Amino acid sequence: MTEITLKNAVVLSMAPGQEEPFPADIFIGNGRIKAIGTNLPSSGKVIDADGLVVMPGFVQSHIHLCQTLFRNMAEDMELLNWLHQKIWPLEAAHSERSLRASARLGLAELISGGTTAILDMGSVRMTDVLFEEAAKAGIRANIGKTLMDKGDRIPKALSENGRKSVEDGLRLLKRWRGAANGRLDFNFAPRFALSCSENVFRDVAGISVENEIIVHTHASENQDELRKVRGATGMRNLEYYHAAGLDRFHLSVAHCIWLDDGEMDILAHTNTHVLHCPSSNLKLGSGIAKVPEMLRLGIKVSLGADGAPCNNNLDMFQEMRLAGLIQKPRAGVKSLPAGEIVRMATVGGARALGLAHEIGTLEIGKKADLILINLNRVHTFPMQDIYTQLVYAARATDVQTVIIDGEIVMENRELISLNHEEILARAQEELKNILRA
Ligand code: GUN
Ligand code: FE
Repeated sequence: MTEITLKNAVVLSMAPGQEEPFPADIFIGNGRIKAIGTNLPSSGKVIDADGLVVMPGFVQSHIHLCQTLFRNMAEDMELLNWLHQKIWPLEAAHSERSLRASARLGLAELISGGTTAILDMGSVRMTDVLFEEAAKAGIRANIGKTLMDKGDRIPKALSENGRKSVEDGLRLLKRWRGAANGRLDFNFAPRFALSCSENVFRDVAGISVENEIIVHTHASENQDELRKVRGATGMRNLEYYHAAGLDRFHLSVAHCIWLDDGEMDILAHTNTHVLHCPSSNLKLGSGIAKVPEMLRLGIKVSLGADGAPCNNNLDMFQEMRLAGLIQKPRAGVKSLPAGEIVRMATVGGARALGLAHEIGTLEIGKKADLILINLNRVHTFPMQDIYTQLVYAARATDVQTVIIDGEIVMENRELISLNHEEILARAQEELKNILRA
């Protein structure tokens, strides 16, 4: 395994008590951070980080790699029509080749914008393909088996028998948990309350506790969705999930916009993580999550881009900036400080993946998932509060080098594990194949 020394960096470790950046070298070996200090010996590959900020890689806690190929194809629609008319038929049309192309396109975008770990919703079918591609790309990924066994307008190809679907999940768990030097893990992703039977929710709840598996789902994104869930179950989304026991081990839920006080209370008192997706919430006209109120109640919040067709990028800088901006008119200009936003983008994500002991901050002994950012640019200057610069001024293209699990996956903006030209060509070709079929 590679040994790397980063020389003369501006280190933003974000470890407790280290909120401010400081000058230091970092030594990486065996996939972990071995030393942080001044005048470390130059050992292994030496990277001159003079003037560059080195910080924890971004952790996006809600991604759909299977949807990247459908970017720019489902515009100006609200959630349920968007799913029924566009996204589900397109997902149902995936071949193994198109799913691979979709994953690679997403992974290339994620890595080139400094995202080093993801919680992905996965796919109903051919989920192994997503694991294979994440393994090859070098990213840290927890990938889901999407469960859809009941509900309106689900295409045949996405509708599975609940029991069989859960069994396929257990097969994926066995095959992929801990693979790629521990970079990969598995989650159960019952898609949302309107696509799963109560039996599936109960089965997943029990199995997730027994096997310590994250449950990853959507809730309370859209008011029509909420009305339908209440009609079908007599409960609000998070009451329903809580009653089914989905939060007994670790529940990571995207959106959480339309909640009442009782649901906020459930979030505050269970191991539930809110996956906030501001771009997606605006683009689908869904609403604005009450993130400042959540943080004040001690609710755990992280950030994600969701899928490309409701964003249309997978860019953590845009999510951070929007997360901040959308609260200002609603909750006040001081309601969500930039430092809190960067914490959601790093430590918050690490927690939502159950990995706060391994990633999310730069500390000796933790996994070496880190990024080098060049803030010496006209659009980021002058140097000021670093959190403000990162949230409101910096861009994905300011990320210069990306290290995941101690391996360089992008250096000086050149992807190492992925072939840029081939990814673009394949994406176009596979989309053509899908639209022809
Ligand atoms: N709810 C259920 N499925 C989806 C999805 O694919 N994207 C979004 N944004 N919400 C969902
Ligand atoms: Fe989603």
